[in-house]
Amino acid sequence: MKTTGKNTEGFTSAQSAEGMNSSAVAKLVVVGAGTIGMRHIMAINLCPGAKLAGVAEKDESVRAELAGKGIAVSPNVERLVEDSQPDGVIIATPTDAHCHSALPVISAGIPVLVEKPIAASLNESEAIAAAAAQAGTQVLVGHQRRYHPQAAMAREMIRTGKLGEILLVSGVWGVRKHEGYYRQGFRRTREAGPVMINFIHDIDMLRHVLGEIESVAARLSNKIGGGLKEDAGVVSMKFASGALGSFALSDRVTSPWSWESATGENRIVPDAGQNCFRFMGTESSLDFPNLVHWTHEGGKGDWSRSISGEQIKCQRIDPFVSQLNHFLDVIHGLAKPLIDVRDATASLRAALAVLEAADSGCWVELQRPQRLPKAAGAGTSVWIASFSVSFEKFQTGFEFGIFNFWRFCRARDITRF
Ligand SMILES: NC(=O)c1ccc[n+]([C@@H]2O[C@H](COP(=O)([O-])OP(=O)(O)OC[C@H]3O[C@@H](n4cnc5c(N)ncnc54)[C@H](O)[C@@H]3O)[C@@H](O)[C@H]2O)c1
Repeated sequence: MKTTGKNTEGFTSAQSAEGMNSSAVAKLVVVGAGTIGMRHIMAINLCPGAKLAGVAEKDESVRAELAGKGIAVSPNVERLVEDSQPDGVIIATPTDAHCHSALPVISAGIPVLVEKPIAASLNESEAIAAAAAQAGTQVLVGHQRRYHPQAAMAREMIRTGKLGEILLVSGVWGVRKHEGYYRQGFRRTREAGPVMINFIHDIDMLRHVLGEIESVAARLSNKIGGGLKEDAGVVSMKFASGALGSFALSDRVTSPWSWESATGENRIVPDAGQNCFRFMGTESSLDFPNLVHWTHEGGKGDWSRSISGEQIKCQRIDPFVSQLNHFLDVIHGLAKPLIDVRDATASLRAALAVLEAADSGCWVELQRPQRLPKAAGAGTSVWIASFSVSFEKFQTGFEFGIFNFWRFCRARDITRF
């Protein structure tokens, strides 16, 4: 398949599978060799245009294992970048370390692919945006689902009105993660809960296909796992287009309905072939991502007519390889990031709003003024953003301390002093 030219986002589905075929081989560093870092390394090994220059990893035993395979390793990303002079860096550390890992690389002017969510907070994503604007560095965010050709098809069908006016969307993300997954303490925190880790992918897809989310309401529960993170949630959404959406999510249920089970993109989740999104329009509906298009007999009608689904054929791809090919195009200056900081921040904002809505019990409006910088020359913004990140961490720690103190008092029935 050959490149057919760029659309306004600097990306076409034709490019997604193979990239734009630059003959140069790009040297890449991966930071964090955990679950997803290893998936990126696997993609690098599959991609003729990329070569692994080294891995920055905090865990000594992981470093030793990689070094045994002849891979250059270091605990320190800055030192590794200096030694290996990579063309691009992939940040795959836990979310709360994204900003810290990415800033020195971005400031050095090296293109970055940072895993989703772009950061743990809006202040951190603002710091990343400011650093990128100041250094003129491209930042791509790892919402890899968008590279599936099915996503482009659904977006095209919906945006060209094939389904009529979209009034409703419903979705499910239900899996039962293995117990070992929760062994690391950070996985029991809200930053690693299914809203911030998994539903943010669905948010990105909904925004991509249907347009911006205007407001959200949510209920979350944590009956099973304890800790601070949610086990299950329901989310209601209003889109800027006027469409309404509802979503059910859980990482503790046995179900065949999730993006991973639908596409087989995650190698530890077997392909169940079920769809997990339904877009409902006035003229027809679409089961997604495996694209079954439902219409009344003869194309038009009402509930008295039989309705049937047509399976739309679509190529299956490995989105991590497609994403990597796109990153190579970004590195070679052939494309702009398909998902940039601003775009990924909108998904982060929506995910954080779900948590806020669940805490407050109220609808949360998303269309607040944006503070992200647009152009270069944002030195002061970097400083202010870094300061506010530190302040925010201090504030969060302080609030967490107060909260735990209150829980301690309540447990001992001494809340009335
Ligand atoms: N795109 C996807 O589908 C997808 C899937 C899973 C995870 N993720 C994202 O990837 C990120 C990592 O998740 P994971 O599940 O791979 O976590 P993980 O715990 O499996 O791996 C993280 C690795 O980073 C290392 N690390 C931590 N801090 C570091 C630092 N400062 N410098 C170098 N190494 C460091 C850890 O030792 C660990 O090996 C998260 O942000 C998560 O949201 C994305």
